[in-house]
Amino acid sequence: MHRILVTRKLPSSVIARLEQVGTVDLHSADAALQPAEFVERARECHAIVSMLNDRVDATLLDAATSLRVVSNVAVGYNNIDVPYARTKGVIVTNTPDVLTESLGDFTWALILSITRRLAEGDRVVRRGAWKGWAFDYMLGTELRGKQLGLVGLGRIGRAVAARAAAFGVRVAFSSRRDTVLEGAERMSLDRLLNTSDIVSIHVPLSEETRHLIDQTAIARMKRSAYLINTSRGPVIDEAALAWALQQRLLAGAALDVYEHEPVVHPDLLTLENVLLVPHLGSGTTETRTAMADLAASNVVAVLSGQPPLTPVLG
Ligand code: DGY
Repeated sequence: MHRILVTRKLPSSVIARLEQVGTVDLHSADAALQPAEFVERARECHAIVSMLNDRVDATLLDAATSLRVVSNVAVGYNNIDVPYARTKGVIVTNTPDVLTESLGDFTWALILSITRRLAEGDRVVRRGAWKGWAFDYMLGTELRGKQLGLVGLGRIGRAVAARAAAFGVRVAFSSRRDTVLEGAERMSLDRLLNTSDIVSIHVPLSEETRHLIDQTAIARMKRSAYLINTSRGPVIDEAALAWALQQRLLAGAALDVYEHEPVVHPDLLTLENVLLVPHLGSGTTETRTAMADLAASNVVAVLSGQPPLTPVLG
């Protein structure tokens, strides 16, 4: 009988599907499994359904000698040592496509919220500090005619680009891949940072992209620009961003992801010109259910001797 470790509560329909191919060991507590317990519970497993904050490293992969598949319920898989898993013959899968549209909508929600100062306005109203309508009170920035610079043009970057016309925004992108997007201008990262009014990050986290947006990159941006991140926190040097926002070297930032989640750089917490959201990019009932379903399908496929639907190839 196959043993399947599921590291977080998932819909019961998904657990039922997994139970058709094995015994499920469900970690149903709200807090993530601690690394030592994760290794212990993975030891006898044939499959793990992991979340983006579960670290599947060499220690775990060495201990889990029966493991055949790690099915990550996320499109990002920087929490998994994929090259090492490959040396162990362990298949890694992720959940692309099913969250693309959700992330596209969400990125625009952040762009609109920070440029129109929604969270800041909400705070003013709640603390009773609003004195009534005034002609020049809490003015935001119009999107029409502005340039959105996408750093990375994968599925999610494209979904964000697809919504830009509705707001009268032109799109530029930088990408290390040889890729095109009709109606959008490709440019170097330096030029994109230099000319964009909104810069939105859509690259996976890797050694090449860690602190891609550092002090030097931020210094290239317009003082009137906004920085949006729904990818992975460590792509931005959070301390450098906090400093730039404090110094008003940028107009604002909207972050869904952080360098050391769930910890947020303390200086960011004191600033009005930054919107801070708790990693909600794919957070709709529909999308999370589709992600869990796809993760289960990958486990069922591998444990039944079939190829997985969405293997991680990188
Ligand atoms: C992912 O799937 O990588 C997202 O960060 C989830 O919100």
